[in-house]
Order: sequence, then C-alpha cells, then structure tokens
Amino acid sequence: MVEIKKKIKTENGIVIATKVTTAPKEEADKAERVVVVKDKKPAPQQPEAKRRAKIMETAFRDAHQSIMATRLRTDDMLPICEAMDEVGYHSIEMWGGATFDAAMRFLDEDPWDRLRRIRKRLKKTKTQMLMRGQNIVGYRHYSDEVVREFVKRAIGNGIDIVRVFDALNDLRNMEIAADAVKREGGTLQMTISYTISPVHTLELFAKQARDMADMGADSICIKDMAGLLSPVAASSLVKAIKEKVDLPVQIHSHYTSGMAAMTYLAALEAGADIVDCAISPFAMGTSQPATETIIAALAGGPLDTGLSLEKLLPVAKHYQMLREKYKDIVMGISGVNINILLYQIPGGMYSNLQSQLKEGGCLDKFAEVMEEVPRVRKEMGYPPLVTPTSQIVGTQAAMNVITGKRWKMVPNEVQQYFRGYYGRTPAPVDPEVQKLVLGDEEPITCRPGEKIPPEIEQAKKEIGIWCTQPEDVLSYILFPQVAKDFLPNKFSRENLVNIGQEEQDAPEAYEI
Ligand code: CO
Repeated sequence: MVEIKKKIKTENGIVIATKVTTAPKEEADKAERVVVVKDKKPAPQQPEAKRRAKIMETAFRDAHQSIMATRLRTDDMLPICEAMDEVGYHSIEMWGGATFDAAMRFLDEDPWDRLRRIRKRLKKTKTQMLMRGQNIVGYRHYSDEVVREFVKRAIGNGIDIVRVFDALNDLRNMEIAADAVKREGGTLQMTISYTISPVHTLELFAKQARDMADMGADSICIKDMAGLLSPVAASSLVKAIKEKVDLPVQIHSHYTSGMAAMTYLAALEAGADIVDCAISPFAMGTSQPATETIIAALAGGPLDTGLSLEKLLPVAKHYQMLREKYKDIVMGISGVNINILLYQIPGGMYSNLQSQLKEGGCLDKFAEVMEEVPRVRKEMGYPPLVTPTSQIVGTQAAMNVITGKRWKMVPNEVQQYFRGYYGRTPAPVDPEVQKLVLGDEEPITCRPGEKIPPEIEQAKKEIGIWCTQPEDVLSYILFPQVAKDFLPNKFSRENLVNIGQEEQDAPEAYEI
C-alpha cells in the first residue's frame, strides 16, 4: 500500500483541502492527484480583465546558463529572491536545463536543495523549470519510471510549471513527462522547438499545438533556441496557433541575432501572452531581451505589463554585482551574430564547429562545412538544431568534408539517430543515406522510451548508504559519474561524518 495525496480544488482553482488515502501501488499509480469540485457559490462576475503582457524572468536558469556558464551558487541567488518575489512576474525560471548537472559537477551543490531553498523564498511567484522530455535534464533517454519519479520529486519539492520539450518535436518523447506533470498536479507547458525548413510549415506547428492541447497542455511555448524567429514569422505563427488552441502562448527567444525584442513585440501584438526576459545585467547577447526594456516598451499601451521599473532597481543592482563578481566567466555579450541569419544555425553550433575544425587543423574547410550542414540536415529529415541534434548534424557535416567522401565515416550518435533512438524525424530521412549508415538493419519505429528497462532498483543498490534523500537516486541515474563523487561528499557534510577524503587532502594528516 502506498500513500496518495489528492488536492481538492474548486472550479476557480482554489485548493480547499488535501486528502490523504492509501491504495495498492498499481492503483495509486493511476489515481488522479487533483480533484475538481463544483464551487458552492458561483464566482462573482468580474469585469473582463485587461489583457496584459506577462513576463517570465530567466535570470536563475536560461540567462544564468547563457552568459554565466551556469556557475552561480545558490548563495548568490537566495539574497535576491524576496525582492524578485515582489516584482509581479508571471513566473521565475529557476531549475532544470543545465543547472542540475552544473550544480553537482562544478559547484558541489545539491540541485534539489537549491530548489527547496529558492521555493521557500518565492511566496507569491510561480516557479518554472525546463525539462527535455524523456531526456529529463540529462543527455540520453531514461526509462519511463525514472521520468515519472523525477517529475513527482520536482513538483513535490516546489516546481509549479514544467516546460517540456523534445529536440525532434516528437510528441511521443514528451508523452510520459506530460502525463506525469498532470498527475502530480503541476502546470504543464508543452513546447514547440522552432526551426526553419520546408516541412516546418505554419500548419505543422499549429497542428502540433492542437495535439499538445489534447495531451493536456495548460500552455504552449514557442522555443526559439537559436534566435531565428523573426518578428514577421512570430506574428503569423502565434496567429496560426491561436486559431487552433485556446491556450496561453509563451515566447522564448535568444538575443543572438538581434531580433528577439522586436519578435516579442510582434508576437504579443499577434496574441501571445507571456515572453521570457532576463534582468538587464544578464540580458541580450546569447541571453534573452532585457526585462526592463520590455516593461518600458509596453508601458501605457494596450499590453502594459503593469510592472514597475522601481521594483526592478534592487534586482538589477544585485545582478550587476554578480556580473562583477564573476567577470572572468561572463560570456556571450558580443553584439549581433550575423552568421545565424546567414546560415540559420544556432550561434553555439557555429562557434563549436569553428573551434573543432581549428583544433583539427582544418579551419580552411570551414566554408565548405557550412555549406554541407544544410545538405546533411535535409538528408536527416530536417531536425531542429538544438542539443543534441545540433552536435549530431554538425559532426557529420564536418566528417563528410574532412574525409572527402560523404557518409563514409559515421559516428555512433548519428547511427543511433538513423536507428530511430532519438525519435521520429520531422521528414523521412534520405533512404540512400540510411542504407549507407545502417545497411540492411531496420530502424525502430516505436517510442524510444519503451526500449529502456526500469533503472531505479539497480541504482539504489549501487549508491547504497550514500543516499540521504530519495532524490539522490535520481541524481545518480542522471549523472552517475558526477554523483559518484558528489553523493559521498554530501553524505559526509550532512552527517558530520569524516569519510576519509579530507584526511587525505589536508596537509595536517601527514604531520607527525
Ligand atoms: Co533558451
């Protein structure tokens, strides 16, 4: 028997009680976690609320990741939480993406602890996280049970809104995560990874939004990871989506090509509801448009955010201080990268390819590789270029050029892609190229997650006593190599037990 916590909510969304019952595990897994009851009194007739543009602040997650190499510590964030809570943001993105890995790997910090401590200080503002569907916050697909357990713990520790995406826009890779978010009573934001190709038409994106609504999405995000979304395209895309679904639409872009602030304005005027911004010292460059700019630009008009710039003063001051504190790692403020507009590839992919070729001593082939990228992408069925597909396409293009023979050398990730383990491609892959890569081997056609056996029991055995909270098992499954160092250190700190590591490191251990 396991415990089931049910939130009893009225139709107006007010939680009136939490009911705890027990049931056998199989039943509990299927049980609804939110029960909606009829309001006793009808909600008072409210005058139609003014449509206001809303802002999600990304300073703790995307902006932090884009310009600070994800190196901020929880202690850098906590002192400003209360002031940020007063601003009136729609939400604060503060978890997921690369922050989980970086906290353990570089900072010796528990990501779960960060979540709990920030949550405690954000009393009025919703918390938001980024989740790569079946990839969670890691670099491969995980089993369904791991995805469900992760969502349960993320929401249980304080996440309100979960943004779920998949690099190929394969809805099957988002299915388990989406279902888990709904069951745990979280707000589900489903994401369209924006890209430009002959198959990515307005109709396709709008249909995707419709399918997401059918999967239970509470809102739709248009995620433009590369800064490719132009104001003109954003306007038509938002209108096309709004015609198909009656859900809030949120726009996420990067300033890298210099268009993002204009794109936000065009999208909002076309009916979008929320835009992702970063406080000015963490804004622009490879990050988001500045929060203050968008507030000031809309003030006094029909989409006025209602937010006050005065409340942002202490927030901006704090992040300015952090920029100075970490001036050696601040990156990405380099004006507009015109290559993004020319080649329609993300700025990160452009610079990665450049440095890879430089290391290999064949920078002279760079222009050729740039011309090869769209060919490879076409043959691979037009994947959106986002982690991990951007690396997969980039590496293959470089190999095709360097070896002088196309598809002669094919790295393992590219083979797995053709085998179907990343999911369904937006367009069919080129059959002749598939033959070169796979020979007669048939690719899988099922949801890739189905192929992965349960992982939790085995992981529990492997980490043994170092597990001091149920969440540690997930940290270990997601990043086993990193967690092997991190978890024993955490155990030692929390239990004030010397496990021998310090004695070895400290010079006094050798004194006689
Ligand atoms: Co982003």
